Amino acid sequence: MDKKVTVIGAGNVGATAAQRLAEKELCDVVLIDIIEGVPQGKALDLAEAAPIEKHDAQLTGANTYEPSAGSDIVIITAGIPRKPGMSRDDLINTNAGIVRNVAQQVAKLSPEAILIIVSNPLDAMCHVALNASGFPKQRVIGMAGVLDSARFRTFIARELNVSVENTHAFVLGGHGDTMVPLPRFSTVAGIPITELMSAERIDALVQRTANGGAEIVSLLKTGSAYYAPASAAVEMAEAILKDKKKILPCAAYLQGEYGFQDLFIGVPVKLGSKGVEEIIQIKLTSAEQTALAKSAAAVEELKKTLRKLNF
Ligand code: NAI
Ligand code: 2OP
Repeated sequence: MDKKVTVIGAGNVGATAAQRLAEKELCDVVLIDIIEGVPQGKALDLAEAAPIEKHDAQLTGANTYEPSAGSDIVIITAGIPRKPGMSRDDLINTNAGIVRNVAQQVAKLSPEAILIIVSNPLDAMCHVALNASGFPKQRVIGMAGVLDSARFRTFIARELNVSVENTHAFVLGGHGDTMVPLPRFSTVAGIPITELMSAERIDALVQRTANGGAEIVSLLKTGSAYYAPASAAVEMAEAILKDKKKILPCAAYLQGEYGFQDLFIGVPVKLGSKGVEEIIQIKLTSAEQTALAKSAAAVEELKKTLRKLNF
């Protein structure tokens, strides 16, 4: 393949993302983890599925960064996931150290790469990756909104008994309890869901979306979601690799947009070969802007914690 994507962290999200990238034949894939044998074993296992899955993507596993040199995209999933009773924010101390180290190593060998951050707490880890890599803001993007929107779409489709393909949804804000699903911009075959369901049902779906990560954690008990998160990261990577100019909700570094300064938060962005090619500013109602401001305040708190921890 003429494109190379490195996935750091060969755990649940990372290995599933590697599988999806290869099976969609988007690129060659390098899988890196600190655990000896795991990225090598998973890469080999995935490669041995290739004749059956019918793709020619090359898969490499490693414990060092050399094979990742010159990557077009690096997806960072390294870190610990949450367990029942933990919030995403409880992960900040451990994961900030991991993400800083990873971003520094990536920047040395893949100076032109676009980073897609997955590790939690997502918005805070985007700040760490931006600072540690020294990359321009267009090339550091957080994955959360695509996942949260996909969850909202799933619940909408089930509620109305329609194809998920007919649904569209936008979830903005930080990737946490304060995320902001926007029913006004969520549609079925172009019809806003506000015309298709009662306010009570919409509220219930919004609540379930905001609680979507915790719902999976409470079922799995030993970790967090990974199939849908991997799909979401790969949708972003595909938009970039194919220069699709696709508008997706992603965590982007805002400098004045939506009234926020120097802050990563989920907003609609246009993804293309340069990364975030545009931040789309939609006119929000005052209630929506207030909800977004509350979410931004939660991310500001995480930034303060990072500063206290010297990140
Ligand atoms: P996991 O535990 O299955 O995998 C994490 C992997 O990272 C492990 O294999 C571990 O060995 C590796 N790792 C740890 N330190 C490393 C380092 N310094 N360099 C390379 N690899 C390292 O966890 P899972 O489920 O894959 O989740 C990964 C992260 O993604 C977690 O922080 C989780 O909270 C986050 N996440 C974020 C989502 C989002 O929407 N942004 C959705 C799902 C997960
Ligand atoms: C999720 O939303 C854990 O952030 C992850 O599933």
